[in-house]
Amino acid sequence: MAPPHNPRRLGVWLIGARGSISTCLVYGLAGLREGLLEPTGIITAKDPFTRMRLVDLDALVLGGHDVCQRDLSHSAGELVRHGILSSDLIVAGSGLAAEYEKAIRPGTLDDSDVGFADLDSRAARLSSRPPRDQIAALTADLADFKRDHKLDRVVVVNVASTEAFRGQRDEWESLVAFEAALDAGKSQPASLLYAYAAIAAGSPYVNFTPSRGASIPALRELARERRVPHCGNDGKTGETLVKTVLAPLFTARALKVLSWQGYNMLGNRDGAVLADSAHKETKVRNKNEALRQLLGDENLHTHVGIDYVPSLQDWKTAWDYIHFEGFLGAKMSLQFTWTGSDSALAAPLVIDLVRLADLAQARGEVGEMPHTAAFFKAPIGGGTHDFHAQFLALLAYAERHNSARHRA
Ligand SMILES: NC(=O)c1ccc[n+]([C@@H]2O[C@H](COP(=O)([O-])OP(=O)(O)OC[C@H]3O[C@@H](n4cnc5c(N)ncnc54)[C@H](O)[C@@H]3O)[C@@H](O)[C@H]2O)c1
Repeated sequence: MAPPHNPRRLGVWLIGARGSISTCLVYGLAGLREGLLEPTGIITAKDPFTRMRLVDLDALVLGGHDVCQRDLSHSAGELVRHGILSSDLIVAGSGLAAEYEKAIRPGTLDDSDVGFADLDSRAARLSSRPPRDQIAALTADLADFKRDHKLDRVVVVNVASTEAFRGQRDEWESLVAFEAALDAGKSQPASLLYAYAAIAAGSPYVNFTPSRGASIPALRELARERRVPHCGNDGKTGETLVKTVLAPLFTARALKVLSWQGYNMLGNRDGAVLADSAHKETKVRNKNEALRQLLGDENLHTHVGIDYVPSLQDWKTAWDYIHFEGFLGAKMSLQFTWTGSDSALAAPLVIDLVRLADLAQARGEVGEMPHTAAFFKAPIGGGTHDFHAQFLALLAYAERHNSARHRA
């Protein structure tokens, strides 16, 4: 079989460039390139994906936006203290990290987040400008990155902090209405401006966060118009992954789930952001929806708790209690606990999504990428939340692509 070699230079633009996921991605890539790490957790490093001629990991060039002053070495130091990154990796990744740091630009942020402590004043200034100016600045950063690094294409990934929840707005319902709101200078959540900038620049856009990103109808329309693929929302890495594996078991055995309680404790920056109720609301909505759909019960009693426990650092623990009923009305329960490093679970999925988004663009695919549903808590294209069915759809996509390539 042909190796997945590809000599192109592919830009990966990370929104949230100095966060834990981005930091794990940079040092993880360096470790893979130096042969210090196995590609554990990277599904595209396994058959049948290895036969798809996806972009080679050596071809990835990193850059991004952030709004904080904290430099990457600080984020890396945190992850060393949390037991996620080893000192060998820090040494091996120092060159790549230094190049990446140079390619980070100040981004923009929401009105509701402007108060946060470690804010880069350039980002605060950009966010006070009209939305059209903000989009122009973000798009110019992408163009400079592409030109300065002689890149063939750039994939944009949102791994920034979760935004506060905002109710639906009329102007998000169509592209015409959204453009009019931008022209009128009406302020918009930062994730929409980033997504608009990426799509307008012709870059595939991946929304790994629960923020709205490109999922509003107006931006889905823009993506179709500009013929750009995009996917999201909210990486499925831990508790929700397990839930969407387990829930179909109850339906398949005609067992009646009476209630499903889930509690998450986490201690990283993501946890600190989610401690705020408006930001937590954005996350909890995604976590609840999957269960209701899979169990076919709109009135199911569910609860998702998310608590910030600083001493846990990047290690998230979830405990779920599932109360269910069988024949004769017998009441039973299933419980699971999951303890995972959030960022180490997420970074390989980002690598997979970058490769798949680049392939989608190379194949001329446009709009939502339904085959990537297995990666997300709230897949933009809808469809089932059943992880097994989602994964089979991804395998079928890979096999279709491989057969078409062999026929050509
Ligand atoms: N397993 C996981 O870790 C996982 C799973 C699903 C979703 N997510 C989501 O991924 C995102 C990143 O997670 P993380 O653990 O790396 O968080 P983090 O807090 O370590 O990093 C987020 C980074 O985004 C930056 N940022 C905040 N607002 C920004 C803006 N408007 N523009 C640009 N940068 C901005 C912050 O300064 C920070 O450096 C979060 O939204 C999280 O909910 C994570």
